[in-house]
Amino acid sequence: MSLNESNAQYILSTSRIISLLMNVAIVGSGAMGNGIAHVFGQHGFKVAIFDVSSDALNKAMATISKNLDRQISKGLISEEVKTLTLSNITIYTVLKDAVKKADLVIEAATENENIKFDLFRNLDEYCPKQAILASNTSSISITKIGAVTKRPGQVIGMHFMNPVPVMKLVEVIRGYATTDEVTKSVMELSVQLGKVPVEVNDYPGFVANRILMPMINEAIYSLYEGVAGVEQIDTVMKLGMAHPMGPLQLADFIGLDVCLSILRVLHDGFGNPKYAPCPLLINMVEAGNYGIKSGCGFYSYSEGIKELNVSERLKQHG
Ligand SMILES: NC(=O)c1ccc[n+]([C@@H]2O[C@H](COP(=O)([O-])OP(=O)(O)OC[C@H]3O[C@@H](n4cnc5c(N)ncnc54)[C@H](O)[C@@H]3O)[C@@H](O)[C@H]2O)c1
Repeated sequence: MSLNESNAQYILSTSRIISLLMNVAIVGSGAMGNGIAHVFGQHGFKVAIFDVSSDALNKAMATISKNLDRQISKGLISEEVKTLTLSNITIYTVLKDAVKKADLVIEAATENENIKFDLFRNLDEYCPKQAILASNTSSISITKIGAVTKRPGQVIGMHFMNPVPVMKLVEVIRGYATTDEVTKSVMELSVQLGKVPVEVNDYPGFVANRILMPMINEAIYSLYEGVAGVEQIDTVMKLGMAHPMGPLQLADFIGLDVCLSILRVLHDGFGNPKYAPCPLLINMVEAGNYGIKSGCGFYSYSEGIKELNVSERLKQHG
């Protein structure tokens, strides 16, 4: 039995709505979009992936292929699964064509309210009436996104973690209007992808970033106030709290611009000064030090990302 046949059988034996979720469209093919396409393709779904940039789409397919090779070398999947996964994914440069048959769309485009609102207005127009529209946003309100459509009950957050093929969690975010039926379908679907879904309500930062970002911000305050240096702060949290990565290294990995914008969402959303971003974080972002993606953040990545060297500018802190 092919993966597609067994997938269809499994789906038919679960719930009516899940049985409709066969065609999946991913909007945005960056770090998250390619990982989400990979996971769905590997689990037998037909995946259409759309991006405004054809370069990004080509890069995404190359990344998926490379990541499947890594899974093969670790003995996690066979060559056959790789071939099947790649054959399940088709790239599109026209949104309407990518989503016209979709039962589920997962939007993973750039984190910007206007981009997402425009996309959801278009998705509402182009997608079949019964389609569920999900967003992988880290911080934008699902309720607000739902409100730009005529189907807010079918709009939901599916917050995958990076790297998607490896990380188990899907934070499933119910907007104010999201229905029980849609939430149940998305929870069941996430399990079917081998993930562990956790249902949360739509408040700023949801759960993951509401807890993670203040921790990162506090680590930056500790550096800013001279409590300890970069390596010392990260070592305390790695060895003392069994975190696999220190908070400053993690901030570099996520992107300091992304951390700042999520902290601003928390600060504006709750109006509580405890979420105010540390002035050092603001300065670093204004100076273009975004972490790994710009080559410099709390650490310098001129020697590659495996070599952890505290950035010259921050050696004096602590
Ligand atoms: N990177 C992470 O660790 C992470 C984790 C969880 C959630 N997220 C969320 O996932 C989403 C994507 O983040 P990313 O890190 O993959 O970003 P990214 O910058 O790697 O990729 C974004 C992609 O969106 C494309 N894009 C921009 N406008 C578009 C449009 N109108 N239509 C289609 N594609 C468009 C860009 O060309 C780019 O390829 C964001 O909402 C982000 O908050 C990111």
